[in-house]
Amino acid sequence: MTDTALFSPHTIRSVTIRNRIWVTPLCQYSVDLEDGVPTDWHLVHLGSFARGGAGLVMTEATGVSAVGRISAEDTGIYTDEQRDAWARIVGFLHSQGAAAGIQLAHAGRKASVHREWGPDDGTRPIAEGGWQSVAPSAIAFEGYDTPAQLSRDGVADIVTEFTDAARRSVEAGFDVVEIHAAHGYLIHQFLSPLSNARDDEYGGSLENRARLLLEVVASVRVAVGNAVPVFVRFSATDWAVGGWDQEQTAIVAGWAKDAGADLFDLSSGGLIDGVSIPVEPGYQVPFAEFVRREASVEVNAVGLITDAVQANEIIESGKADAVMMGRELMRDPHFPLRAAHQLGVPIDYWPPQYRRARWR
Ligand SMILES: Cc1cc2nc3c(=O)[nH]c(=O)nc-3n(C[C@H](O)[C@H](O)[C@H](O)COP(=O)(O)O)c2cc1C
Repeated sequence: MTDTALFSPHTIRSVTIRNRIWVTPLCQYSVDLEDGVPTDWHLVHLGSFARGGAGLVMTEATGVSAVGRISAEDTGIYTDEQRDAWARIVGFLHSQGAAAGIQLAHAGRKASVHREWGPDDGTRPIAEGGWQSVAPSAIAFEGYDTPAQLSRDGVADIVTEFTDAARRSVEAGFDVVEIHAAHGYLIHQFLSPLSNARDDEYGGSLENRARLLLEVVASVRVAVGNAVPVFVRFSATDWAVGGWDQEQTAIVAGWAKDAGADLFDLSSGGLIDGVSIPVEPGYQVPFAEFVRREASVEVNAVGLITDAVQANEIIESGKADAVMMGRELMRDPHFPLRAAHQLGVPIDYWPPQYRRARWR
């Protein structure tokens, strides 16, 4: 045990996570055969964070359906073959003492794109192996193809897809399931008035725009049982007048908690292009702090958290229950081991194979 907040364990439902440094979802666009099956790249990429001492290792945005993938190189968890490949990776994460989380995602109108280093950086036309995207309304993301509006049955199918994906996630051994409701992807498209122009019970009022998320949370909770923590990633704001904002986020987080969610992962943006975002170290921490206070829920902060002292202060001061980190962990997957040394925390999960390299 330690007095240092960043390295104190955290228990949610049946899962105890060894510290508060968690790996944020990081798309790798590295599936070989367009079958959504994670590869050795994913094993090494995620495995290195577990070896490096992270508490929770979260997968990339993982498609709940083929249509819901961002690119054809995304991983999925809509087949048993995908589940079984994830199980191998989860086994390795567990062998290193990390908890394993999976981010379940549907890209909605932002689906069917070429990966960043592909032939071009745009959407992937149907003729080039792309597909028709779907959304709450036939409103395109700037520069993307126009999505097809989901029918009522189509919305019900989305709930089923998230539910089946959650069941397969537990079968694969994942400890945590995160529902991706951020970054302008499908559930966020329902939440924001800027992308949802429906006139049925899934559009209009806040209750209606939140309905899909709440149905997904409630159904996923039943599928995973009582032991498994369910997280929701929100974009706390669209950074645009008339859009989604932190007040709506806090209200809906409270409703989602009642529906069975345990922790909220507070990011921002992604719904519309060309907005101005005041990016600076820890710039999204105030959203985590706001939602934690207003909705009385557990949260994690994310976004330009790159330093052990900075991360520890966020936890110690009660702004968040954990931090997620991405780019700093990609630069140094052993950041948690290094941070423990820097903060003078004795940890017992230094990999024995690497003991001779231990900072003293
Ligand atoms: C390469 C890369 C891939 C990402 N993929 C995802 C993703 O799959 N799901 C998601 O919610 N956010 C994704 N993000 C956003 C990160 O999870 C994170 O919120 C963002 O990078 C800010 O954290 P950082 O400053 O610690 O990197 C990605 C970011 C990067 C750099």
